[in-house]
Amino acid sequence: MTAPSVQNDLFLRACRREPVERTPVWMMRQAGRYLAEYRAIRAQYDFITMCKTPDVVAEVTVQPVDLVGVDAAILFSDIMVIPEAMGMHLEMVESRGPVLHDPIRSAADVARLRRPDPTDHLGYVLDGIRATNAKLEGRVPLIGFSGSPWTLFVYMVEGSGSKNYRYPKAMIYNEPALARELLDRITEAVGDYMLAQIEAGVHAVQIFDTWGGILPPAEYREFSLPSIQALVERLKPAGVPIIAFSKDCSHSLEAIADTGADVVGIDWRTDLGLARGRVGDRVALQGNLDPVTLFASRDEVKQRVRNVLDAFGEGDGHIFNLGHGILPETPPDNARAVIEAVAEYSARAAS
Ligand code: CP3
Repeated sequence: MTAPSVQNDLFLRACRREPVERTPVWMMRQAGRYLAEYRAIRAQYDFITMCKTPDVVAEVTVQPVDLVGVDAAILFSDIMVIPEAMGMHLEMVESRGPVLHDPIRSAADVARLRRPDPTDHLGYVLDGIRATNAKLEGRVPLIGFSGSPWTLFVYMVEGSGSKNYRYPKAMIYNEPALARELLDRITEAVGDYMLAQIEAGVHAVQIFDTWGGILPPAEYREFSLPSIQALVERLKPAGVPIIAFSKDCSHSLEAIADTGADVVGIDWRTDLGLARGRVGDRVALQGNLDPVTLFASRDEVKQRVRNVLDAFGEGDGHIFNLGHGILPETPPDNARAVIEAVAEYSARAAS
């Protein structure tokens, strides 16, 4: 099955660097706690139950399309569903974030992980995609996603968020062969999973390499990048745009563009114009307003949006986004101001 056709295809055209009438915009973590309508549903269910209930997934995924006016929806789910499907015990701890019990630290731990069957172990995500497309009725495209193999490795070996990531980093330095085996297993599982998402009807996919930037550049290219590249090679024949977002990895932009991804995500620490100069003839770029900008006044938000559009400059192949996820306390009116400002300042002269 292929994804249903959409009325607003600005995002898909920009991914392919085709001409657009204006720059499309969506925001990482756009479904979430800054929306009162999200909090109202969240009050009834815990987070993991929400992720596993397809009607709730559809409802929450579509909220920012209706309430904020974004040009693409991103499936409401979490990167942590993969470690759980591989057999780990996931818990979302209030005010601490995700915790994986019994982290992977030895060859025996790696051996106990299974290769999930997406239909059997992640069927709720695939049902969520179908329910969301039904609710969207082709208004905007739906983006699927996964954590990158390295980012999932970090969580699976550390067991939770952390300041120094001592365990995953020590594993690559002390036991590189074991680390590679674990990364390969995760890469295989993520590939199966993302292909199943595409089969279920997503229009594009994003690989979130949130923890790429905890590695020095050489180690990033040795341990994170090859698994992203392998994933891109496996997904490419499925034909949907692939977005690669390695946060805090502007040291390796050229190498990320060389993976074959269609779009490279740019975090807010990177100058978008410089990034375009380095790789913009090969890939589309997505980004990169600092999410904290949305706590400024409405006029200031609009000016900063304009600065990002100006930094990219004229021409196609830009998807406006934040440089990382929107923060929970963000005023929704300022999220709407971003959408308005992008439309206002990026409208192309009719040719
Ligand atoms: O972008 C979207 O709107 C789609 C949904 C989405 C969520 N998580 C929902 C979520 C996506 C794409 C993610 C990805 C994700 N999850 C990443 C990569 C992107 C990034 O932000 O770097 C990471 C590292 C995670 C892991 C994760 N999930 C953490 C660290 C946390 C706790 C921090 C927090 O914001 O509470 C979560 C929970 C989570 N994932 C929430 C949401 C809406 C908050 C859950 C709640 O309502 O309490």
